[in-house]
Amino acid sequence: MNNLTVCGGGVLGGQIAWQSAYFGKQVTVYDVTDEALDNCRAAHKLLWQVYQDEVGASPDSVAAAQNRLSYATDLAEAVASADIVIEAIPEIPEIKTEFYAALAQVLPEQTIIATNSSTLLPATFAAATGRPDKYCALHFANRIWDLNAAEIMAHAETAEATLIAVTRFAIEIGMVPVPIQKEQNGYVINSLLIPLLNAAQSLVTNGVSDPETIDRTWMIANRGLKSGPFGSIDFIGMNTAYNILSYWGNENNDAQMLANAEYVKANFLDKGHLGLQTGQGYYSYPDASFLREGFLDVPEPDQAEAIAKLTFPKKN
Ligand SMILES: NC(=O)c1ccc[n+]([C@@H]2O[C@H](COP(=O)([O-])OP(=O)(O)OC[C@H]3O[C@@H](n4cnc5c(N)ncnc54)[C@H](O)[C@@H]3O)[C@@H](O)[C@H]2O)c1
Repeated sequence: MNNLTVCGGGVLGGQIAWQSAYFGKQVTVYDVTDEALDNCRAAHKLLWQVYQDEVGASPDSVAAAQNRLSYATDLAEAVASADIVIEAIPEIPEIKTEFYAALAQVLPEQTIIATNSSTLLPATFAAATGRPDKYCALHFANRIWDLNAAEIMAHAETAEATLIAVTRFAIEIGMVPVPIQKEQNGYVINSLLIPLLNAAQSLVTNGVSDPETIDRTWMIANRGLKSGPFGSIDFIGMNTAYNILSYWGNENNDAQMLANAEYVKANFLDKGHLGLQTGQGYYSYPDASFLREGFLDVPEPDQAEAIAKLTFPKKN
C-alpha cells in the first residue's frame, strides 16, 4: 500500500501524512477548505525542522518527504488512486457519518479505510463506509514521530486481510502496532489518558489548583515525563479536547465533564486559542514554562510568600 490519502489535515492528520511521506508513501491530504490545507502546509513546514532535530532526518530526506505530499479539496480527486484512506476529521459522530457516506460514492472498490478516532467505535460507522470488511481503526498518538504506537482495532465485520494490510502499513511507516482485542472506546492509550486529563481539568474548572501547579506535581510524581496533563491538552488541541469532553459528558450524563467542556470553550475556543497549533493554550509557546529547565526545581526560600499566597482560601 503505497498511496495514502489522509482526510482531515488538522493536528493529527497533518502528522500522519508527514510521517507516512517521510517513510516513503505517496500522500494526499484532503480537507474541506483551502485555509485548512494552508494550515496543514504550515504545520508540515515546522515538521521539517522537528524531524531533523528529533529524528535525526537529513535535509534531503525531509525535502523528499515534502515532494511526496500533495493537498486537495476535491474528495474524488484526492482518493482516486488511494490504497488506504485514513480518516482524521473532527471527533463528532455526525460529521464522520456524513463524510463516510460521501466517501463511499467516490472511493475505488479495493481501497481500505481506517479511522484515527480517539474515542469512537468503528462499529458506529462501518455501515456508512459501504465496505465494513475493509474498515477498522488505526489510531495514532500525538507527536507521532516520537510516540510511535499505532493502535489497531477491528469491528465485528472487519476482514482479516484488512487487519494484516493495515498492520503492515503501520510498520512500514515506523509504528509499533498495538493490537486491540475487543472494541473499546479509547483503545489502551485513551482509556488511560482521558480520565486523567478530565480529572486534571476538573481540578482547574473547580478552582482547586492551577494548570502549572498540577503539571509540575504530576511531572514530579512521574519523573521523566515531558509534559503534565495541561501540556498534553495543549498538544492535543482545544477542538479535540472540547469535542471529547462534550460528547462523552452528554453520553454519560456527566455534569462535571460537561462543565469541563464549557470551561475549555469559554477560556480557549471562544477566544480563538486552539493550543500549541495557535501558540496559545494553557501555556504560551514556544517558551512554555513547563518546557523550561528548572520547572521541577525546588524554589528559592524567598519565593515562599508568593507560593503560600496561592494556598490562602479563596474568598468568593
Ligand atoms: N489531537 C490529537 O491529539 C489526536 C490524537 C489521536 C487521534 N485524534 C483524532 O483524530 C481526529 C482529528 O483530530 P484533530 O485533533 O486532528 O482535529 P483538528 O480539529 O485539528 O482537525 C480536523 C480537520 O478536519 C477537517 N475537516 C472537518 N470536516 C471535514 C470533512 N468533512 N472532511 C475532511 N476534513 C474535514 C478540519 O478542517 C480540520 O483540518 C479525531 O477523530 C481525533 O479524535 C486526535
